[in-house]
Amino acid sequence: MKIIGPFTQIVPLADLPFKGRLNDDALTVIYDAGVLVKEHNIVAVDTFEKLRREYTATPIEHIHDKLALIPGFIDCHTHICYAGSRAKDYASRVSGKSYLEIAQAGGGIWNTVRQTRLVSESELIHSILKRAEKLFSEGATTIEVKSGYGLERNAELRILKAIASANQLASADLISTCLAAHVLPKDFSGDESDYLDFIIAELMPVIKKEKLSGRFDIFVEQSAFHIKTAIPFLQQVKTAGFDLTVHADQFTTGGSKVAVTCGAVSADHLEASGEHEIALLAKSATVAVALPGASLGLGMPFTPARKLLDAGACLAIASDWNPGSAPMGQLLTQAAILGAYEKLSLSETLSAITFRAARALNLTDRGAIAPGKIADLQAYPTDDYRDILYHQGSMKPCKIWKKGQQI
Ligand code: NIG
Ligand code: FE
Repeated sequence: MKIIGPFTQIVPLADLPFKGRLNDDALTVIYDAGVLVKEHNIVAVDTFEKLRREYTATPIEHIHDKLALIPGFIDCHTHICYAGSRAKDYASRVSGKSYLEIAQAGGGIWNTVRQTRLVSESELIHSILKRAEKLFSEGATTIEVKSGYGLERNAELRILKAIASANQLASADLISTCLAAHVLPKDFSGDESDYLDFIIAELMPVIKKEKLSGRFDIFVEQSAFHIKTAIPFLQQVKTAGFDLTVHADQFTTGGSKVAVTCGAVSADHLEASGEHEIALLAKSATVAVALPGASLGLGMPFTPARKLLDAGACLAIASDWNPGSAPMGQLLTQAAILGAYEKLSLSETLSAITFRAARALNLTDRGAIAPGKIADLQAYPTDDYRDILYHQGSMKPCKIWKKGQQI
């Protein structure tokens, strides 16, 4: 056991509701505070003096500066296993071509698939680690990583194995998701539903047997997989015991309804969601994940985060780091920008990248500083936690603890 402190402020983000709006008045701030940690977990959070009095013989990890402590961030949607660059697509987009036009001309996701297929497993591990360590240095202690740039049996398995190996070496926990249903690969002989059948028959059993992932994703969109084929696919995957998540309502609506109908843990993107979709998500247990990095990357509207919260939904925010639509990979910056445009309270934005984002990964053991939770913590060089979002990501954490150990 050890006591870490004193921190000028601790913002535990504990005991807050999972769904709906959050007012900053309800946010607890503990001043001159400490955390009691045993091995990987938090035992108690209180004022430093009280912890010291109660646990007299316990060693202290002394904090000498004025620091504000918050839970580690959870980036619940990334595609950081890829090779190559899509700078050419970017140049075309800012000259007026749309994401979909570029994809139809052979660029887009397919471009990255071709480049990623050429790369060895060890090179993939290296590229994941490089990006995961950058996210970690900016406070993300849990990072979801999707496959989806292999789109054939061996390449998808190579990516999932690379994510598993990278997880052994990374500072953050990496949670993998199979996104073999990203788009219909141009070299597959068969239609959409043949391809989804192939995933179920050839890929899913191996993933299950080798425990390569516990989650499946699908891109539901007119240019990717249609609602009618997506639903039976997701139902079969769910029956096999996997958690579901959906790339939904990015350009056109429909995906969010698929996600809710199939009981997905999250529906991500939602830039095109309207009143109907918002109401549906709000009534459900499906987490609505906003990806402001994709809006910024593509010059598209932001996810209606304010409306989702007002309607009662659970809102998370993730970086979507990928080479096409969201190459920035800076979660805190993106969350702060979305907050400014959508008028999110600081509690809503911080919750969306901590305990609410954990929900999108079906995790309840992290994302808050409370007894029993994993001691994933980050401290910022300020005596006012509001500085963290105010500086829009330019203030970085100066100390990060993963499972109670300072990294
Ligand atoms: O979340 N929309 C689909 N997938 C990714 C983009 C992938 C890419 O363009 O390479 C996304 O935006
Ligand atoms: Fe994505």
